[in-house]
Amino acid sequence: MKAAAEPPNDTSIREALAWAVRCFSSLITDTPRLDAELLLAHTLNWNRTRLHTYPERVLSQQERLDFKALTRRHALGEPLAYILGSREFFGLDFLVDKEVLIPRPETELLVEKARAWIQTRASETGGLAAADIGTGSGAIAISLALECPRLTIYATDISPGALQIAARNADRHGVAGRVQMLHGNLLEPLPKAVHLIVANLPYVSEAEMAQLPPHIANFEPRLALEGGPDGLALIERLLAQASAHLRPQGLILLEIGAAQGQAAQNCGRRHFPQAQIQIVQDHGLRDRLLVIQT
Ligand SMILES: C[S@@+](CC[C@H](N)C(=O)[O-])C[C@H]1O[C@@H](n2cnc3c(N)ncnc32)[C@H](O)[C@@H]1O
Repeated sequence: MKAAAEPPNDTSIREALAWAVRCFSSLITDTPRLDAELLLAHTLNWNRTRLHTYPERVLSQQERLDFKALTRRHALGEPLAYILGSREFFGLDFLVDKEVLIPRPETELLVEKARAWIQTRASETGGLAAADIGTGSGAIAISLALECPRLTIYATDISPGALQIAARNADRHGVAGRVQMLHGNLLEPLPKAVHLIVANLPYVSEAEMAQLPPHIANFEPRLALEGGPDGLALIERLLAQASAHLRPQGLILLEIGAAQGQAAQNCGRRHFPQAQIQIVQDHGLRDRLLVIQT
């Protein structure tokens, strides 16, 4: 944490923000001003626009102490999403805590591809069923449920703490009746075969785990990150289980790491030799999804 003088008793909003910005090193955030504003808005229970409207408003002693405490947590590396208790994903606000991975913007590509595939099968009688494996905060399952009103979704996770957060998010977004939370290992808890399997499983390799920046390594759950020696251990295990849980002409969409395209494709080919297999890149042209159309 960078040394910065304490904010004095009669600190205004403008001064408090300037103080917080000085506390955040570039290792912690690329957006120090935005982070400071979000923390102060959270402290005051205001929106950010109101901070800009009343920059001379003086903080009460309690507000100053609360803001100082939040600023210190962030300056010591705690991600903003855990401090604020939520993160936006696919235009929706998701509750997060240390039981779950903070949903990443790159995972939105998986939701877009799943939605596009579901739309091609919209005329299916009886509706489609999907499974989101390793649901974490429920970000993928809940976004899909809202995008595809006729879809039934099973959301599984091995972490009971994550499933509690996912259930609260499903409730908040009004889809608790269509997203069934199931505790267990990979596809094992599914009650029936589904048309679509999506997953953003842990895929960080052992070598990458050793290099993770502290704001990830010290705060996000290891269970949500560790993918074994080459990062593909869970993906391999899911693919080994998948044929028993996927309906004919089904689709599997798995998020992968940027360096895993070729290995993931080979893994897909071993388990689904007859399927169409594709690696999809993200907007930054990095390998991002393994797509298996059976
Ligand atoms: C990378 S996080 C993804 C969370 C969420 N789907 C997202 O995209 O933000 C991986 C999730 O998989 C869960 N997980 C790890 N091993 C699992 C297993 N064997 N079976 C089911 N879930 C598992 C973790 O608890 C974690 O919630």
